[in-house]
Amino acid sequence: MSSDSLLGGIVPPVIATVSTVAELRERLDTERSAGRTVGFVPTMGSLHPGHASLVAAAAADTDVVVMSVFVNPLQFAPTEDLGDYPRDLDGDLAIAEAGGCSIVFAPADAEMYPNGRDGVLSTVAVPVLAGVMEGASRPTHFAGVCTVVAKLFHLIGPCRAYFGEKDYQQLAILRQMVTDLSFPVDVVGRPTVREPDGLAMSSRNVNLSAEERRVAPVLARALQAGADLITGGERDAAVIRSTMAAVIEAAPLGALDYVEVADARTLQPLTVASTDARLFGAVRFERARLIDNIAASDTPVFVSTDPVVS
Ligand code: PAJ
Repeated sequence: MSSDSLLGGIVPPVIATVSTVAELRERLDTERSAGRTVGFVPTMGSLHPGHASLVAAAAADTDVVVMSVFVNPLQFAPTEDLGDYPRDLDGDLAIAEAGGCSIVFAPADAEMYPNGRDGVLSTVAVPVLAGVMEGASRPTHFAGVCTVVAKLFHLIGPCRAYFGEKDYQQLAILRQMVTDLSFPVDVVGRPTVREPDGLAMSSRNVNLSAEERRVAPVLARALQAGADLITGGERDAAVIRSTMAAVIEAAPLGALDYVEVADARTLQPLTVASTDARLFGAVRFERARLIDNIAASDTPVFVSTDPVVS
């Protein structure tokens, strides 16, 4: 008798949704003791094709893919958009399953932080890398990211974990954390997935108004203008920064937060740019703050189709 007929013709979903640490550990202990490799994709949910690309990479490399869906309160300052962060667990499960994920870990806040957010007294900090750009704009953000990712690594025990270059500073900081603290995890970075008009895909894009959405590719265009200057031979980082800032400031909506020309490894600002540099930027809209980055040597990754921002 097949398992289908045992269940009266109902085919159980392939994906398991797990909300407790105890069940997660039990399932993964079983997988590991059967000799299966575990790949991990940490997310805050509201999944889009950028997240799906990480699941696909994990499914290609490892036997069991685990995704976490957890909007981590520790990485949001009290003034930030924790309450406004989009959530869609049903949609997330469909995308995760289609990509080859077999376990989604979606804990409640109390499961991750039983003593509450203020009861977490141990944190992981990577000060130098976290002191610039996103870290300068959001001073407590990366300690929150590192702390939750360290916890998730302990709970899941993956051999590989997948992160997007969309959050390049986060990726660099987590690589440093894994090296400094000897986590037995290979950190894999994957390229940014973009909309056809160049806008980097982001869960926060749903919080843009229709008009803001039309303007939003200006961030990618500004970074590309900086990259074009570098490939054209410009080496004065101040000139490159002011050119990128001017592109953003010319847009009818969106406030410039920062633009930067930085060393791709140390993330520190450069005075003399090179083709190894990385270009970063952040723009604030009404209900969404968007970030993006590209390598100076990236070939143009998009074409702008929108005359509003040209
Ligand atoms: P989240 O913003 O949900 O992103 C989860 C992962 O998806 C990150 O590694 C991010 O870089 C990647 N990602 C997001 N947009 C992408 C895109 N357009 N192309 C490719 N990859 C993309 O980053 C976080 O969550 C959190 O800080 C987390 C690491 C889960 C810790 O809470």
